[in-house]
Amino acid sequence: MSQIQTERLDPASGGVARAAALLRAGGRVAFPTETVYGLGADACNGTAVAGIYSAKGRPSFNPLIAHVADIAMAQRYVIWDDTADRVAQAFWPGPLTLVLPLRDGAGISPLVTAGLSTLAVRVPAHPLAQELLRAVDGPLAAPSANPSGRISPTVPEHVLAGLDGAIEAVLIGGACEVGVESTILGLAPAPVLLRPGGLPVEALEALLGERLAEGGSAEAPNAPGQLLSHYAPQAGLRMNATEAREGEVLLGFGPVGGACTLSANGDLHEAAARLFGALHALDGQGARVIAVAPIPEVGLGRAINDRLRRAAAPR
Ligand code: TXA
Ligand code: MG
Repeated sequence: MSQIQTERLDPASGGVARAAALLRAGGRVAFPTETVYGLGADACNGTAVAGIYSAKGRPSFNPLIAHVADIAMAQRYVIWDDTADRVAQAFWPGPLTLVLPLRDGAGISPLVTAGLSTLAVRVPAHPLAQELLRAVDGPLAAPSANPSGRISPTVPEHVLAGLDGAIEAVLIGGACEVGVESTILGLAPAPVLLRPGGLPVEALEALLGERLAEGGSAEAPNAPGQLLSHYAPQAGLRMNATEAREGEVLLGFGPVGGACTLSANGDLHEAAARLFGALHALDGQGARVIAVAPIPEVGLGRAINDRLRRAAAPR
């Protein structure tokens, strides 16, 4: 692929307007959300969306999330219902994606849905993402801004480490507050958990008044991005480790110390926010295997363990 000059856009000096102009012209711009950095392109422009796939080297069967500014904008593209409304009123803007039936003639490129009759939509809470979506006034398809199969970026430096020279620009925001991708809820029509993520599943279950079944699997994914080898660092990964073996570096949590820790006092929010950054950093130190301390399977721990299981999967 030929290299292009990737612009670093500073929001303090017109960066959002420049990002919007590049996106309207069919360009790819990485931007911060509260979960991870997304690689955005105009979701109605098939050529622009194809550019996301080529920059990421992503398999084309993997559909993308359409980011919108608010519920009203979401309703232009998907068929809304009462459950969607209750959930969205409670948790948008925020780290939650809803999969709903695609509206006829909505204008979304079929490359975004990978030919499915449903569309994943999300209203991000990050102020720069909000500003950008309002400036563009249209949906942005945006997977995480990393080469396919690699760790999601939570700071602009991660984005540039993977995609410098392959995308038009990156909008420079700070570190992502949540640190793991959005929770994906299928509503077409029965509620199904398609991916654990930044919104604890327990919060959704409390609102819906029911336990959520998990949809899809790594082998026959319902959320096709749930391929087991997703989110892989270069190093191998071993979970539930309480000490480092030969050739390993230990990533701690709570009482288990290590070369560094996800959270010394066992705070799952802190651990989620640090997860991808810690994997990036330890990966850079050249260990053969990253050993990770046990993480409890509750709240954000479910999203963290999901990402760790994928990173640990044989490749
Ligand atoms: O937090 C996030 O969700 C981040 C930020 C950038 O918003 N985005 C993100 O996108 O994680 P991506 O492309 O890495 O993951 C999208 C997931 C994939 O697992 C994909 O299979 C699933 O959403 N997905 C998209 N459309 C779908 C659909 N119509 N039905 C089922 N799953 C869908
Ligand atoms: Mg991703």
